[in-house]
Amino acid sequence: MKQTNFVSPEELTIQDGFTSRVLRMNAAYTAQSGENRRAYVDCYGCQQNEADAEILHGLLRRMGYQDAENEHDADVVLINTCAIREHAEARVLGNIGALSHDKRRRPDMIIGVCGCMPQQPHMSEKLKKSFPYVDLVFGTHAVYKLPELLYTALTEKKRVFSTENSDGRIAEGLPVVRREREKAWVSIMYGCNNFCTYCVVPYVRGRERSRDPERVLDEVRGLVSNGYRDITLLGQNVNSYGNDRENGMRFPELLRRIDAIDGDYVIRFMTSHPKDATPELIDVIASSRHCAHGIHLPVQSGSDRILKLMNRRYTVGKYLELIDYARAHIPDLVITSDIIVGFPGETEEDFQETLDLIEYVRYDSLFTFLYSPRVGTPAASMEDPATLEEKQARFNRLLEAQNRISRQIHEGYIGKTLRLRLDDLKPCPGYALSARTDGGRLVHVDAPESLRRTVADVFIERASTYALFGKVTESGT
Ligand code: SAH
Ligand code: SF4
Ligand code: F3S
Repeated sequence: MKQTNFVSPEELTIQDGFTSRVLRMNAAYTAQSGENRRAYVDCYGCQQNEADAEILHGLLRRMGYQDAENEHDADVVLINTCAIREHAEARVLGNIGALSHDKRRRPDMIIGVCGCMPQQPHMSEKLKKSFPYVDLVFGTHAVYKLPELLYTALTEKKRVFSTENSDGRIAEGLPVVRREREKAWVSIMYGCNNFCTYCVVPYVRGRERSRDPERVLDEVRGLVSNGYRDITLLGQNVNSYGNDRENGMRFPELLRRIDAIDGDYVIRFMTSHPKDATPELIDVIASSRHCAHGIHLPVQSGSDRILKLMNRRYTVGKYLELIDYARAHIPDLVITSDIIVGFPGETEEDFQETLDLIEYVRYDSLFTFLYSPRVGTPAASMEDPATLEEKQARFNRLLEAQNRISRQIHEGYIGKTLRLRLDDLKPCPGYALSARTDGGRLVHVDAPESLRRTVADVFIERASTYALFGKVTESGT
């Protein structure tokens, strides 16, 4: 077994040296101009990318940058990018294009592009050639090196590229600025070994590597004692946690140990690959004090033939066995999923099997995607006879079916009273506050703002496809 590698303390000390140098430069600027240098991190993509953005933010603060309001107001802009679908990449390229005006106005500003997009060789080439005003380009493996890369860009007045591919390492102890006060991401592992044939993630995030369980437990303890109440454990496939470590602790055990930490908090985790999710995992959730009764189990397709072409390594039968077990042991479990429509070679029969599957499972909600070919993945060179119109029509049928199911499930809540912690997660006219149920369902709550961050009984009056609507009947703690 290949052992997980860590960024050494010596390397981190070298980066600390660069941090001090940039900090001194920024202090000198402030002394001379009376103004502070400001930085902004823009982020696209999944929670893992958001967690990286919080580290980039932490590193920038340590270098003396204050927070800018937006990218147009910043001396340093970092765009943390996503490559999962073409649409995601097109959006990012459009936004980088828009920054050319800012750069013309303020040639001293530093524009950096990082994350998953530049980790692909063809994309880092494109950034080099077509976006000459981008100063700094680095991939997911170089986050911890930001101080050195930024220092070089600032002092040598040349473009800096750090996109070499590696299997990936783990850098511990980096600073984090969390975006939210009560909600936190905790990466328990990085990378992916699954190579689903449509997916770019294993190419841009490297091999699976798991953090030391003690480090994870320490981080969660710290968060709980600092008042964080909603903690999401992150990994592309949390169920393979520990597989890369000799006699490593596995995910159900890690979850059990985290759950044993005292405090008033909820634990969630994502994502669970169905091939590695086990009844043991369900048992841990069922008997836990803190695990949310929700699980995201991306199925991708309801056709065994397509699942095989996707290299998902489970069958519909196996998947449904797990769903049945979960429903039997946790009756109020909220189950959500991802589905790709229009994978190369998908026929009407295959698609019908996907519709049958969602009618059987009755997911609370679904993330549905039109297949997007990704450079270098096996699926990109598979035969794909269906037209875009056919795929779009299937996509719409899937959405319609799921909307009906979600609405029916939500309507089942009308007349019930739920005990919820109120916040202002999603604004909605007429409902000052909102909350998430244990299973992650959104509830808009008609309540005075003074009840924010308290727990209250909420009577559910109506429901839509996307949310529940209720009013406070009794406020509590
Ligand atoms: N690691 C997670 C998924 C991360 S990507 C897992 O395996 O479940 C999130 C979702 O994006 C995937 O579940 C898939 O549904 C979708 N996705 C990934 N690559 C895609 C592609 N090339 N085209 C369309 N959707 C894609
Ligand atoms: Fe992509 Fe599959 Fe890995 Fe998920 S498990 S990140 S879909 S390769
Ligand atoms: Fe996107 Fe990278 Fe996440 S490709 S979905 S940001 S791992």
